[in-house]
Amino acid sequence: MKNAQAGILAPIPRHARYLTFGLKQGVRPQAAQRSLAAAADGESCVVGLGALLLFALQKRIEGLRPFPHYRSEGVDVPSTPAALWCWLRGEDRGDIVLRALDAFKYGRGLDLTGYEDGTENPKGKKAAEAAIVRDKRVGFDGASFVAVQQWVHDLDKFAAIPRKDQDNSIGRRRSDNKEIGNAPPSAHVKRTTQESFSPEAFVLRRSMPWAVATRAGLVFVAFGKSLDAFEAQLKRMAGTEDGTVDALFGFTKPVTGAYFWCPPVKNGKIDLRAIGL
Ligand code: HEM
Repeated sequence: MKNAQAGILAPIPRHARYLTFGLKQGVRPQAAQRSLAAAADGESCVVGLGALLLFALQKRIEGLRPFPHYRSEGVDVPSTPAALWCWLRGEDRGDIVLRALDAFKYGRGLDLTGYEDGTENPKGKKAAEAAIVRDKRVGFDGASFVAVQQWVHDLDKFAAIPRKDQDNSIGRRRSDNKEIGNAPPSAHVKRTTQESFSPEAFVLRRSMPWAVATRAGLVFVAFGKSLDAFEAQLKRMAGTEDGTVDALFGFTKPVTGAYFWCPPVKNGKIDLRAIGL
């Protein structure tokens, strides 16, 4: 996948920082965008452009749309549009010096609740098929779309739930990561089983735990060749299809939600030819 930002398909790093930028009024973002593209390599820094930025540049990327929001009993999924997203990745925390939302790999890739996250991710060729755009046009091939949400966990509340109910809220056993066949329909993996959608809804999840002092949770990150698969999953989690809300909402909530377009790379640099830069 030579055109794709290498950080998308690579395994989760030990350390990361998420930077999300807004736009200053009256500033022309072209020059800043060009220098960012020249400085970022797509591997130690994955870059995503939001609709706000593209709008300011008077450009449009087909398939990039506003993040949906849902509100109902027990569910509040906000949409918080942003201009630019950078995912700084590294093996040494000291290498990542910019201040932002501090994220890290927990154990073999666990959520802070102790459950393994990413088990059912597509692998190898299938990962690239799910996450990377194939398009013959110059500047489009190798791109990706990403959905990013910061979730805040109530870990005390989660700890007070009996183990069996904890397992049932995920739909997998924490002890051995085995799927629970008869888990309730609200179980997170019952809501999101990728093969259960029509068309099948595969995404490449690259979520990482975050923590600031005593607040903590998950930065949910899902790359896709389009935003359709993620959106179908989120819709079902919010209970809009059948009234069943994902059990995750019982102990965690999203406080941000945004979509970005991740341009391809060319000669080790972000390739902005699709938007004429
Ligand atoms: C705090 C938020 C979240 C936590 C803690 C979480 C955790 C997990 C865990 C532990 C699994 C089971 C292991 C695995 O296959 O990775 C899982 C599966 C999955 N999650 Fe999440 N998740 C969260 C949010 C989301 C969101 C917002 C979506 C999409 C809208 C999502 C989509 C999926 C998918 C597609 C699977 C695999 C389902 C399958 O095909 O078996 N998750 N998640």
